[in-house]
Amino acid sequence: MPRTELIVGVVGATGMVGRELVALLERRRFPVGELRPFSSGRAKSSVLFRGRRVNAPGVDAASLAACDIVFLVSSDEVSLELGPKLAKAGVWVIDDSAAFRMDPKVPLVIPEVNASALRKDRRLIAGPNCTMTGLAVAAAALHGAAKVKEARIASYQAVSGAGKAALNEFFGQATRRLSLHSDGRAPVLSEPKSKALPRAIATNVIPQVGRFDEHGHSGEERKVAAELRKVWNAPAMKVSVTAVRVPTIRGHALACWLTLAKPLSASKAMALMKRTPGLRLSTGADYPTPLSAAGREHVMAGRVRAGATSRELALWVVSDNLLKGAALNSVQVAEELLRRRWLGSRAAARG
Ligand SMILES: NC(=O)c1ccc[n+]([C@@H]2O[C@H](COP(=O)([O-])OP(=O)(O)OC[C@H]3O[C@@H](n4cnc5c(N)ncnc54)[C@H](OP(=O)(O)O)[C@@H]3O)[C@@H](O)[C@H]2O)c1
Repeated sequence: MPRTELIVGVVGATGMVGRELVALLERRRFPVGELRPFSSGRAKSSVLFRGRRVNAPGVDAASLAACDIVFLVSSDEVSLELGPKLAKAGVWVIDDSAAFRMDPKVPLVIPEVNASALRKDRRLIAGPNCTMTGLAVAAAALHGAAKVKEARIASYQAVSGAGKAALNEFFGQATRRLSLHSDGRAPVLSEPKSKALPRAIATNVIPQVGRFDEHGHSGEERKVAAELRKVWNAPAMKVSVTAVRVPTIRGHALACWLTLAKPLSASKAMALMKRTPGLRLSTGADYPTPLSAAGREHVMAGRVRAGATSRELALWVVSDNLLKGAALNSVQVAEELLRRRWLGSRAAARG
């Protein structure tokens, strides 16, 4: 890796993903010479980096344009506004929002799966949806060996996937609910009002993640299908999804059924998965859960078994939505740019 230290911008540094990203830059020793974190600017805020507090003011476009690389971890609207301008100004931009993922000119990259999609002249790069990332990694080798024709997926998505407002609301609701005592009967609870999610999430599950379209598919269901096809370069693959928010804090879990072009036994599938980079496979009666996957950098899978036919496999996948589903994947993309020597200090290059 080049030794040159970089000017690194993070827009949305005070959010769920942003705080993880700043911590990863430090933990993975990314060559940060100067960190420029930004927030909405609505309140005075800061982030902790290498033991000191760094102020995170509202966005300053000129300061961002002078960065070597900028991570956008804020919202679709902010990414739409900043991403193309920064890339045009020569800044590498790694965007975690959904704004550009399906743009054919923007690479959508999970480094272990499709680093080949990166282009030296495409400085705006999208990171994928946190729900599909786990499956895209876990079953990449199965797709390579036996081609997935159809994927059916049910998701169990943690509240942190909806951002800090949703998590704060969940904590408030859960704290009140956990003080309940049973008199021997299961209590019938009323449903409190919810602002950040479509329904109350504590002691509940919600079969809606994002807005429904005219066909009844939610935004998350559409994203998972479209992005899996793009990352696996499988435009004809059929994907059906039911996306569900569950009252866990971090770690999205997926129950998946894959129909393959040719038969593949569960034991051969597991042998392939054991060799997959970024994946940890549980076998036998062991399996990962959102609690065991939380804070882990790798994707975790288990319960690999034969489906209803010799061409069908069922599996269970869990990954930390804030790490591999967002911040870690973005940092890994940046590390790949460093490895290729595409990312360096623009100031040093100018002399
Ligand atoms: N959460 C996940 O699991 C996940 C996974 C994959 C991708 N993503 C994507 O990552 C992005 C961030 O998600 P999140 O969950 O971290 O959201 P979040 O917790 O709600 O944080 C949002 C961040 O954006 C900042 N922000 C809000 N409005 C802004 C503005 N106008 N200009 C600049 N900054 C602004 C907030 O600053 P304040 O602190 O001042 O409010 C905060 O730092 C979203 O695009 C999301 O779709 C999230």
